[in-house]
Amino acid sequence: MSHSLSLITFLSLLFLFLFSSVTATTIGVTYISSPTLPPPEKVVDVLQSLKITAVRLPVADPDIIRAFSYTNISLFLVIPNSLIPSISGNRSAASLWIYKHVIPFYPRAQITAISVGNNVLAEGDVTTADLLLLAIRNVHRSLVDVGIRQITVSTTFSFVNIMTTSFPPSSAEFQEPAGKFVIKPLLQLLTETNSSFFVNLYPYSVYKLRPEIPIGFALFQELAYNFRDDTVTGVRYRNLFDLMVDAVIAAMAVAGHENIPVVVAETGWPCFDPSTEAEARGVYAKMYLQGLVNHLRSGKGTPLRKEGVADVYIYELFDANESVTKNQALRSGGTWQNWGVLFPNMSMKFQINFSNGGSISPAAVYDIVFCFLLLVIGYSNYLR
Ligand SMILES: *[C@@H]1O[C@H](CO)[C@@H](O)[C@H](O)[C@H]1NC(C)=O
Ligand SMILES: *[C@@H]1O[C@H](CO)[C@@H](O)[C@H](O)[C@H]1NC(C)=O
Ligand SMILES: *[C@@H]1O[C@H](CO)[C@@H](O)[C@H](O)[C@H]1NC(C)=O
Ligand SMILES: *[C@@H]1O[C@H](CO)[C@@H](O)[C@H](O)[C@H]1NC(C)=O
Ligand SMILES: *[C@@H]1O[C@H](CO)[C@@H](O)[C@H](O)[C@H]1NC(C)=O
Ligand SMILES: *[C@@H]1O[C@H](CO)[C@@H](O)[C@H](O)[C@H]1NC(C)=O
Repeated sequence: MSHSLSLITFLSLLFLFLFSSVTATTIGVTYISSPTLPPPEKVVDVLQSLKITAVRLPVADPDIIRAFSYTNISLFLVIPNSLIPSISGNRSAASLWIYKHVIPFYPRAQITAISVGNNVLAEGDVTTADLLLLAIRNVHRSLVDVGIRQITVSTTFSFVNIMTTSFPPSSAEFQEPAGKFVIKPLLQLLTETNSSFFVNLYPYSVYKLRPEIPIGFALFQELAYNFRDDTVTGVRYRNLFDLMVDAVIAAMAVAGHENIPVVVAETGWPCFDPSTEAEARGVYAKMYLQGLVNHLRSGKGTPLRKEGVADVYIYELFDANESVTKNQALRSGGTWQNWGVLFPNMSMKFQINFSNGGSISPAAVYDIVFCFLLLVIGYSNYLR
């Protein structure tokens, strides 16, 4: 009896270990609909066939949200910057937004995150930054008022607008005065509300600013010379993405909040006319995105955070239509390049396997379970 009990304990511990190691970063994609693109229902189908399980909606149109009901695709909604002043001053404006975009669909639509604004500090408007925290609080309270506590509410900054330096990452801090007046109080609020830190993070932009960075380092090419050492901690970085994530984590630690989950709300690689922008080409976009997916699926995390970032949203599913995205602060990359992964006819611009990499597939779990059963049978025979 005691033998079988300890065996059961052993097995449950092993299963716990197995299934906890399955959790890797959720990979999603940013999707902005447009009248010239296929309807959202078709987009849902293609996302499911690509095994993409999370979507960020910078234009959170109720009809689009409805299309994702009863799917297993989680949603990250964005409240436009233009609504921040009214939502910050007026709780009922926050409730109105929640009543229109969340209540009719939740939980059938798996809304997991709401970003109050995108890239707000880029507009250099300190009053907006002040209002930001009030607006986030109002949205959070409106959700709690209707009994919803599982949705993380935050705002999204762009890496290049909030960080001082990323070399070495361990010395990174948030830029002042935003660090002291906006980001630090935000981190406190995120801790209180069990929410995540959202950041737009483009290795492409940092690579463009720092010509000494080898392009392979930005593109996840693990070549012998593609690394950067953090001279303070002695940690070796093999790709720019991890280095930038750890810069954010180091800056959060300096601000006294090192354990808040990090969500990369936008990342991608542009694809344009290579005669004007040499590195903005499809072959590099494919290398970046496949390298990113493989790296995230491997579950290796970053040197400073073993579990890695919580979610990453690839920017973006379709090339943006300028007439739809104009004046909406929807993107932090250049406005002139094409960032899309799919053509409007929903074929892929370049082949990316979103299910690739080192995560444990259901088939592998089945194999492991099968081996265990053999072991258990062997063990119980031995006990006789
Ligand atoms: C959602 O996932 C659950 C559990 O994995 C599964 O049973 C269900 O069929 C899925 N639903 C859809 C619409 O894919
Ligand atoms: C607060 O917001 C609601 C809904 O948007 C609006 O009807 C009301 O006039 C606003 N009140 C003030 C004082 O701005
Ligand atoms: C905090 O959020 C995580 C994931 O979003 C969840 O698993 C956990 O239960 C939450 N904790 C509390 C105290 O609400
Ligand atoms: C962009 O959208 C407008 C309508 O909103 C449409 O007329 C135009 O053809 C679209 N452009 C492209 C390149 O799809
Ligand atoms: C989809 O559109 C792209 C670009 O216009 C084109 O190259 C490709 O052949 C099209 N694919 C299909 C299946 O129509
Ligand atoms: C994508 O990767 C998975 C896991 O490595 C593999 O099973 C699948 O066949 C690949 N799909 C394509 C289209 O290459």
